[in-house]
Amino acid sequence: MNEEVSKVVLAYSGGLDTTVAIKWFTEQGVDVVTFTADVGQGIDLKDAERRACESGSSKHYGLDLKSEFVSGYVIPAIRANAKYEEEYPLSSALSRPLISSKLVEIAEKEKADAVAHGCTSKGNDQVRFDITVRALNPKLKVIAPTRIWRWTRQQEVEYAKSRGLKIPESHSKYSIDQNLWGRSIEGGLLEDPWNEPPEEVFEWTVDPVRASREPQYITLKFKEGVPRALNDVEMDTISIISQLNWLAGKHGIGRIDHMESRIIGFKSREVYEAPAASAILKAHKDLEKMILTRRELQFKEFADREWTNLVYEGLWGDPLRKSLEEMIAKMNQVVDGEVKLKFYKGSVSVVGRRSKYAAYSLNIAGYDKGWYPSDEEARGFIQAWGLHTLIARAAREGVQKV
Ligand code: ARG
Repeated sequence: MNEEVSKVVLAYSGGLDTTVAIKWFTEQGVDVVTFTADVGQGIDLKDAERRACESGSSKHYGLDLKSEFVSGYVIPAIRANAKYEEEYPLSSALSRPLISSKLVEIAEKEKADAVAHGCTSKGNDQVRFDITVRALNPKLKVIAPTRIWRWTRQQEVEYAKSRGLKIPESHSKYSIDQNLWGRSIEGGLLEDPWNEPPEEVFEWTVDPVRASREPQYITLKFKEGVPRALNDVEMDTISIISQLNWLAGKHGIGRIDHMESRIIGFKSREVYEAPAASAILKAHKDLEKMILTRRELQFKEFADREWTNLVYEGLWGDPLRKSLEEMIAKMNQVVDGEVKLKFYKGSVSVVGRRSKYAAYSLNIAGYDKGWYPSDEEARGFIQAWGLHTLIARAAREGVQKV
């Protein structure tokens, strides 16, 4: 390590990289404070604390951030229909700015001169951590030990063994990151994009072939674009997400396999499991389509995509992200209503929707009742509607103008 550092706050996931990092820092005389965030990845905070301290951490913070994660990050993503490159619901990307902001808070409190994370030099997460930390406190150094030592997994294991560190049992074949909003699986044989993901990579979803042959219907109630009730039972959004991860997961919903354009200049093959996100995003978008006007929808699609790209690209701290988010929230003030979903063998379909703010009118749209334009009205409208096109074509083809 080139930099002069005396105290560092390390984002400790409990995995091999960050466990080795504690020891690596302390061997260079750096005081290590560790911090583990619970963002719904199913971690035992007490266990993480014990392991961090056994590995040489002088002080540990274990914080349950589930509710902050949902209110400050997942809810804006729902309102923005956020799916990067049409597929990835941003699960990992959303947790990074939250973890970064806590790293900064703890570093300031502990009077540390640096923060550290376990990301490698090939991934997106390093970009998200580094930029968010620097946006919040430019004085703090950001250190990524794995980027410095560049060891193979085998070398890390040997280092850990030689220092008597307990090697965490983990899925050695894949790189996994998970939180309430989804689970990402990378590496191993998935790196060949032609290989079908083997069943062993999936933990939250059953194979759709083996899912129930009975469809299941559920209803989701939204208020201001936020899920507030599941099957008519009001509950907080964390509970809705957890229940849907289980309910949709057992129908094999939420498996995603796509080619992703990374921030860092290359494509990667990414596999995700996001049962709740798949169901909620589908329902939310459908409800918006019932309520928002055509122009609002067209404009919002652009705003949503910009928001999603900024978050994916590590630019949570960009002023545009906040401005877009406020506008998207404003547009979601009328996104109240109910959506009926059908889960069946890996697919989630919207089969019903209703809202007091619906821009839909049965009287106007129905074929058998209500308003019917006369032949004359219809022809007048169509003529004016097509005029631009007809005049332009005529001009280019040199025929008589309409
Ligand atoms: N490709 C996803 C993203 O960039 C997932 C990253 C997962 N992170 C990990 N350390 N395995 O957001």
